[in-house]
Amino acid sequence: MKRLRVAVLASGTGSLLQAILDGQDDHYEVALVVTDRPGVKAIERAQAAGVEVLVFDFKDFASREEFSEAIARAEGERGIDLAIQAGFMRILSPIYFRTLGVPSMNSHPALLPSFPGAHGVREAMEWGVKITGTTIHFVDEEVDHGPIILQEAVVVEESDTEEMLHERIKAVEQRLYPEAIRLFAEGRLEVEGRRVRRL
Ligand code: GRF
Repeated sequence: MKRLRVAVLASGTGSLLQAILDGQDDHYEVALVVTDRPGVKAIERAQAAGVEVLVFDFKDFASREEFSEAIARAEGERGIDLAIQAGFMRILSPIYFRTLGVPSMNSHPALLPSFPGAHGVREAMEWGVKITGTTIHFVDEEVDHGPIILQEAVVVEESDTEEMLHERIKAVEQRLYPEAIRLFAEGRLEVEGRRVRRL
């Protein structure tokens, strides 16, 4: 088994990034962290772990295509095997995936295909669902759409605020994401159309 070189794209506090960093083992190493926001906590976390950080400030680019292509090129130059989105809040253009040429994963804080988009936790609560959860999926050119690798339910309590519920969902994401990366590293994820089989 090859030790995967993983890139992590993150925009915020990076608690998911931290879980992925903490999960490094003979399956994978985090070789690069990419963010679109200067000054976020995710940068500190990467630096503390001795991982290279690149900041791609969206406003420095003429278009979403240029922004997306620049990130994919940087990943390619560093020999990345798997590109992970962990709370990355920018939509990447199709050119990102064509340039990247390796698989990409995302973690979404709801049970897809319900509640895609940037406010999955809030929209699930507002809909009044009793169960929501998290989805780790391969990324394709449509937002929150690619084949599902792992899902786990989280019960919505009547006393929940959005923040409380999101914290419980994040705890599950932090456990599932390193597991999904390990399954991939072991060659145990077979994609057939929309379905991912665990070998
Ligand atoms: C996670 O819930 C992720 O699914 C969502 O943003 C959150 C990231 O949190 N897209 P953090 O920045 O890793 O703490």
